[in-house]
This record gives sequence, structure tokens and C-alpha cells, in this order.
Amino acid sequence: MTDVQAASDAADSSGKTSLTVRDNRTGNEYDLPIVDGTVRAADLGQIRVDEEQPGLAVYDPGFVNTASCRSAVTYIDGDKGILEYRGYPIEQLAEHSNFLEVAYLLINGTLPSKQEYGAWEHEITFHTFVHENVKRFMHGFRYDAHPMGMLMASVGALSTFYPDARNIGDADNRHMQIVRMIAKMPTLGAWSYRHAQGKPFVYPDNELSYTENFLSMLFKMSEKKFEADPRLVKALDVLFILHADHEQNCSTNAVRSVGSSQVDPYSAVSAGVAALFGPLHGGANEAVLRMLRRIGKKENIPSFIEGVKNGNEKLMGFGHRVYKNYDPRAQIIKKACDDVFEVTGVNPLLEIAQELEKIALEDEYFVKRKLYPNVDFYSGLIYEAFQFPPEMFTVLFAIGRTPGWLAQWLELVQDKEQKIARPKQIYTGDRTLDFVPAAQRWA
Ligand code: CMC
Repeated sequence: MTDVQAASDAADSSGKTSLTVRDNRTGNEYDLPIVDGTVRAADLGQIRVDEEQPGLAVYDPGFVNTASCRSAVTYIDGDKGILEYRGYPIEQLAEHSNFLEVAYLLINGTLPSKQEYGAWEHEITFHTFVHENVKRFMHGFRYDAHPMGMLMASVGALSTFYPDARNIGDADNRHMQIVRMIAKMPTLGAWSYRHAQGKPFVYPDNELSYTENFLSMLFKMSEKKFEADPRLVKALDVLFILHADHEQNCSTNAVRSVGSSQVDPYSAVSAGVAALFGPLHGGANEAVLRMLRRIGKKENIPSFIEGVKNGNEKLMGFGHRVYKNYDPRAQIIKKACDDVFEVTGVNPLLEIAQELEKIALEDEYFVKRKLYPNVDFYSGLIYEAFQFPPEMFTVLFAIGRTPGWLAQWLELVQDKEQKIARPKQIYTGDRTLDFVPAAQRWA
């Protein structure tokens, strides 16, 4: 239990850790236990006017104040700008770890020993290849197919190549699919990119590290061995770490929700890729670049900000459901920008982004609403420096997020309290209309 939860469960002077609710419709009082700072929504079901009426429910579009699970994967304190994976601060992981080690940590809950890391790296490295029919499948897309659409479809298609993945009750089987998915995601992501470029697909090079191999599959042409600048490799690896998990965000919720039907993990993760595709989630960094390009020069910023404040549009890359402070990932990315631009030269849009941030952070509208830069505000600038087209940005996010989705899926399938996701609704439509057959209606 966290300190915050312990405090919120503290008993009152009479020793109670509960919520007393008085239903003013009936005058009845109910005592609802408080556990981990929450009351059980199902406990509200006992509050009803009479036996004929349904019990009280909570209405929470977008789950703004509803916990859907217990999770030991990622901790966020949005007010303080804290992000931890399995208890380790994101700043330390970004500085001292690497993506594969972080993936191990997320999946297994602890840091690996030297031997465990060696075995993990070996397993991931030797599952990077995909069945040749996956390659043919990917070639079947139109020349201008969005790489996220291709990724979503090809991850889903993997479920047909590994039908044993449906056996989600078996721990070894689950492990196998997790390894496969983390290993193959860069291959699918890189091939989605190559397809759009009309370039031949590059097979994985198992002598390279995870991130180097990804860069090789993206950019290798006729050279014998692709050699990436180590500063760029490190920067991309850090970006993968920063995106690796973010507790119950939209795509993770999609993975959990679809996974709750006990479908195989490829199908569940492809739902996560679909959710990530949206501009309010993983697609935001693509939108940030478009916005910066549209603003064009610093002088145009004030009129753009006015438009945002008038509700004409959003300042993309700002604001977050959880962070009401500077997103800690954005701080790290801002630093990574310097390393990348040292190699590639400065992206001219950086100046506009920095000025936009400065103005927004001082503006009453953004200050009052606690809108700060999020992970997507600067990441697009780095990706562009790598010469990724904007459509690829979300693919990079998806590769990074895969261990997080899988860690959450693993937690879900082992959690005895979980049920198939099935929210309630408040029905607002007509009732008991008499159906008139078409022949009579159209007569
Ligand atoms: N620009 C201008 N106003 C904003 C913005 C923004 N980017 N974000 C929120 N607001 C305003 C919003 O209009 C509302 O104002 P009011 O109270 O006057 O109605 C207030 O701030 C609260 O916003 P909200 O929409 O209730 O907040 P939310 O928690 O539902 O939405 C969000 C969170 C991330 C969807 C939203 O901030 C947003 O659309 N940001 C831009 C898109 C973006 O950068 N997304 C990436 C998120 S980080 C990566 C990830 O995890 O996927």
C-alpha cells in the first residue's frame, strides 16, 4: 500500500474506515468500506429506492475517477510529476538502464541478475524474425498505407501464426508470446516504414542490440553492416524506456479490456495499437509537428495561443489526464534533444516549440488548468531529426509501449478479481415502440 493510500484509509476517531452515505430519496444510510482509498462501485448497488429499481451506479465517462484494477507495475503521482516503473524512478532508468532491461523489469517485477539478463536478451534477439508469410501479408498493403494500420493488422495477424497463444492459462506459453511480441515488434514496425518507402525489407541482424537492430531494419541499404551513431542509439533507447508503460492509459485500458475476454495476447495488443493510433493518445506527437509547422514562425505564436484560448483548437503536446505538473518524461526528452541535435543539427521547429512552451507556461489559461508539456511535445522533434516521417512516430511509441501492455496483460490474466470488462450505461433512447414493417411504413 502506498503512503497516499494508507492516509486515505486512515480510520476516524471511532475506528471506522468507511464512507457513510445517506440516500435522501429514502432516508436510508449505508456504510461503505474504504479500501486503498476507494469504495467498491458494486457496493453502491445495494442503494436503491425499492426492489424494482436498479441499484445506484457511478457515471464516469472516460473513467476519470474509477480504478479498474490493482496494479503493481507503474506508479504515477501526477501532481508531483513522479513516474516509477516497479518502484524505480523513470529518471534513473533512463540514465542508467536500457530498454531490454526495463522490459524485463516491467514483465517480471524485479531487475534481472546478470544470468537472467543474458537469457532474456538471447531469447528476445532470437525471436526477431517473423514467418515469411507475415512479410507477404505486409506487402499486400497499399503503397500509402499508414504504418500504424499495418502494425495493428500485422500484430493481430500474429495470432494466426501462433494459435497456441490462446492457451493463456499456461505460464510458459504466456512467456513465449511475450518474448515473441517484444522481439518482433521492431521488425513489424520497421517493415511498415520500408513498405511506405518502397524499399526492400531488411531482415533482423541478431548481432546488433535491440535498438541498433531496429535502426538497421529501418535504414540499411546496400552496406554490409549498418552502423548507427551510438548517441542516436542511446537517445532512441531512452525514448523507448520513457514510453514503456504509463499505467491505465487509453491503450493499456484497451489491452486489458479486450484481454479480459481471455483472447490471445496478440489480439489484445493489436487493440492497444489501435487505441494508441488516435491523436489524443499516441498520435499527439505527429499532431505537434503539424501544429509547429503551421505556426511557422515565432511571431505567429500569440495569435495561435489566442485561438487555443478561444477554444478553436488545442495546444497539442500539452495537458494530461494524470499530470497536473511537468510530465517527467518531457523533461528527459528535452535533454535528449540536445544529444540528438548534436549529431543531426538543430531542428528549426525547436525554437518555435521552446517559445510556445515559455508563453504557455506563463499564460493564465494554461496555468489555471495546470496544462504543462507532455511526453509528446518534444518527442516528435527528435523523431524528425532521425528522419522518420510523422506517420512513424506512433509506431515508435507502440514499440516502446509493448512491454508495458504485456506486463499489464500478464497482471490481468493472473488477477482473480478481474472479470470481463463490461461497463454499465444510462439508457437514453426510446422504449417499447411498436414495430411497423417496411412495406407499411413506406406505403
Ligand atoms: N490545449 C488547450 N486546452 C486544453 C488542452 C490543450 N492541449 N488540454 C486540455 N485543455 C483544457 C480543456 O479544454 C479543458 O478546459 P475547460 O475546463 O475550460 O473545459 C481543461 O483544459 C481540462 O481538459 P480536459 O479535456 O478535461 O482534460 P482530459 O484529462 O480529459 O484530457 C488530454 C487530457 C491529454 C486528452 C488533453 O489535455 C489533450 O487533448 N491534450 C492535447 C493532446 C495531447 O497532447 N495528447 C497527448 C497526451 S500524453 C501521451 C499519452 O499518454 O497518450
